[in-house]
Amino acid sequence: MKAAVFHEFGPPEVLKYEDAPDPVPGPGQVVIKVHAATVNRTLDCAVRAGTQMQRNPILPGILGVDPSGEVVAQGEPVEGVHMPKIGDRVSVLSRPGPGEDGMLGVRRWGGDAELVLAHANACLPISDNLNYHQASVVIRHCPTAFHLMFTMGELKKDQWVLVMGCSGGLGSIGVQIAKMVGAKVIGAAGAADRAQIGLDLGADYVVNYGEKDLTEEVMAITDGHGVDLVYDNISNPKTWPKAFDAIAHGGKLVTAGAHGGRIVPLDCFKLYDSKITILGSAGSTRENVEDSLKAAAEGKIKVVIEKVFPLSEIVEAHKLVEGGAVPGKVILDPTLG
Ligand SMILES: NC(=O)c1ccc[n+]([C@@H]2O[C@H](COP(=O)([O-])OP(=O)(O)OC[C@H]3O[C@@H](n4cnc5c(N)ncnc54)[C@H](OP(=O)(O)O)[C@@H]3O)[C@@H](O)[C@H]2O)c1
Repeated sequence: MKAAVFHEFGPPEVLKYEDAPDPVPGPGQVVIKVHAATVNRTLDCAVRAGTQMQRNPILPGILGVDPSGEVVAQGEPVEGVHMPKIGDRVSVLSRPGPGEDGMLGVRRWGGDAELVLAHANACLPISDNLNYHQASVVIRHCPTAFHLMFTMGELKKDQWVLVMGCSGGLGSIGVQIAKMVGAKVIGAAGAADRAQIGLDLGADYVVNYGEKDLTEEVMAITDGHGVDLVYDNISNPKTWPKAFDAIAHGGKLVTAGAHGGRIVPLDCFKLYDSKITILGSAGSTRENVEDSLKAAAEGKIKVVIEKVFPLSEIVEAHKLVEGGAVPGKVILDPTLG
């Protein structure tokens, strides 16, 4: 097969479009002909750059944590494991199946290749209303978004939520799933075009924190109440305090991301005086995955795709993602070359 292989950590140019051995399915595994995998700042660019060494990435490596495609080969069936059929359209979860070691695209060869190996348990059916590109975006962001917003954030109808980075991967899904339960959604972004994406996805209000004071704007929109939940995922030292100051008494902040800087100032007086809870978690539950598939199948999730690249142009794709806040996802499609 052709694959984008990296033999050392470094800039995008370390990714080489070259021949690699075809995967052979073991018991309970399938081989998938890949039609899509997303490019992410952390799990692709940072892993390739060698700044995510705590994840123990392997060399030579093949990135691609969320491939979608068509099942083309099956290993031996295993009792109690539901094997997808040849020709089934599936997306693959990055978590390891039985006997597999670590995360797909980090500890195991991922979907930036014509073929990828996956355990049957990690394969999720793609609903008819989604193409492969859309399916990879759904499986990349929706389960984490459901986990943050509902499992941890416990967002309910009529509550106020502030969705930071509302045009981003997690942010764009966050806006939509918060509206699904009838919450009042304020999208926030660092530029006018990115704030507009929040409005287009259904936010009731948007704030451009590149130009306006976020706390003042949120307090005005909510008539002084503040928001019940901040869905952050940025950890930017400039925007975090502004969002934190806009949390209502007894409210929460949830986060699964830190590419805005990691270290943020925290007003501990406001934390205890306003009885605020801060929760961090990057994972998701099986229920979050099922809720995501259901919402997507019902047509309730729009995905924002910036650009689709052939796999052979992976270096350009990484440069685009690494170069700044791209509004929308960048996809690699190995069937395009
Ligand atoms: N499945 C998941 O999606 C998942 C799971 C676990 C963890 N995470 C983590 O969650 C975070 C968000 O992921 P994502 O895929 O939503 O990211 P993304 O689409 O790349 O970015 C989200 C938003 O962050 C804002 N931002 C602020 N400062 C930034 C900076 N210095 N560099 C880049 N963006 C910046 C940008 O919005 P503005 O410019 O409008 O401020 C951007 O739209 C990441 O740290 C990721 O590793 C994601």
